[in-house]
Amino acid sequence: MSIVSGTQTDHRLGFADQTEEVRVDALPLSGTVPEWLRGGLVRVTPAQMDFAERSVSHWFDGMAMLNRFGFAGDGSVSYASRFLDTDARRAALASGGKSINGFATDPCRSLFQRVQSLFSPELTDNANVNLARLGDEYIAMTETPIPVRFDAETLETLGHDKGAAGFGQITTAHPHHDPERGELVNFAAHLGAKSEYRVYARRSSTEARTLATMAVREPSYMHSFAITPRFALLIENPLVVNPLRLAVGGKAFIKNYKWKPELGVRIHAFDRETGAHHRTWTADPFFVFHTINAFEDGEEVVLDLCAHEDASIIELLELERLRSGSGHSTLGARPLRLTLGAGSGVAVARELADVDLELPRIAYRTRNGLPYRYVYGGSAGDAAFLKRLVKIDVEDGSFAVWEEPNAWAGEPIFVPRPGGVAEDDGVVLSVVLDADAGSSFLLMLDAASFEEIARAEAPHHVPFGFHGQFFSA
Ligand SMILES: [Fe+2]
Repeated sequence: MSIVSGTQTDHRLGFADQTEEVRVDALPLSGTVPEWLRGGLVRVTPAQMDFAERSVSHWFDGMAMLNRFGFAGDGSVSYASRFLDTDARRAALASGGKSINGFATDPCRSLFQRVQSLFSPELTDNANVNLARLGDEYIAMTETPIPVRFDAETLETLGHDKGAAGFGQITTAHPHHDPERGELVNFAAHLGAKSEYRVYARRSSTEARTLATMAVREPSYMHSFAITPRFALLIENPLVVNPLRLAVGGKAFIKNYKWKPELGVRIHAFDRETGAHHRTWTADPFFVFHTINAFEDGEEVVLDLCAHEDASIIELLELERLRSGSGHSTLGARPLRLTLGAGSGVAVARELADVDLELPRIAYRTRNGLPYRYVYGGSAGDAAFLKRLVKIDVEDGSFAVWEEPNAWAGEPIFVPRPGGVAEDDGVVLSVVLDADAGSSFLLMLDAASFEEIARAEAPHHVPFGFHGQFFSA
């Protein structure tokens, strides 16, 4: 077990624990924060990896902490960090980490306990992947159907959201907003003697409905999906599981899945109105965590995503490997455009730009599911981890870059300027680890020029995380 002390002076500091819960009214600031920016950027991150008896074995299994950068509209930026008070973290603290049974950290359980878990599968509530607004509530999510509700101002944990529990044992932490119906659309895999995929929609924590289902023998691991006005698009990675293996337990979740490149990638389109299966396309094998966007172009569907060569990216993100610094530059994925034709079942693929891209974000509110021009994301280039920020023009493949020496930028989040019309009229926010300073700062870029307009210094390092959202005041 290697416990990282938090004294690293390179990107490895981003994998060191941060257990300080703090509130700061006004952070040291340079530049000018736009006065129209009001609300909070809330991010969730795996912030505690080390416990008395053991550490988690995979970055994805660190205990969830919320970080909030608040904008009051007076030019100041506040900050708060607070752990989600989950069953998973309580048990980990009490057991010295032995209780952890997550994405890729093996459960420490006796045979008797394993047999027990056959009948009552343990689903973690360590919601460290993403956040969303559901009706009047805010939820933190991982890939189990028990999100955790929290207060978006105080970051207080408010209990479980159990409204999606009936759809399946596995779901995504990347639901889509349907602004027309005021719903969150998501997908789940129901595992059993007869397994099936289920696309479902929720209006609140108590109102949910099924949109579409599809029987499946060996469900695929799918971290996200895409929607257009007409379709929900499931992208089946050739990383699949025999559901019985998951039921038997004993192994960490993802280790039950097998890479079967011979399957290729299958993209299923379902009609969101009728639930009918519209069509399936196949593509040469790759592995995708994140879709970028999708839209309809006449009878064709265009689907953009970040494609990794294969599923070995999952092993590259094992904590020991990340902390030892033996990672390498294949962490980034290729931004790929798949054209899904009306007359063919084969996807036509081409690269959108000559740059690697992960943690992609778009001008979601106005462009999701529709033709669009810009994607923002993290990029590793030659570095040991995601480091720089890029803005790609998907129409011509050109891209702009923000980077600084020994600064490691997290997911860039676009916030539109109220009343703005241009797709990139707004700011891009990213939490950046300044490894020389040993702390993080919030970077604010003008989205159009991709140049810095302000930065606010956090009082400590914020561990690398996955996703966050800007919640308007
Ligand atoms: Fe994700």
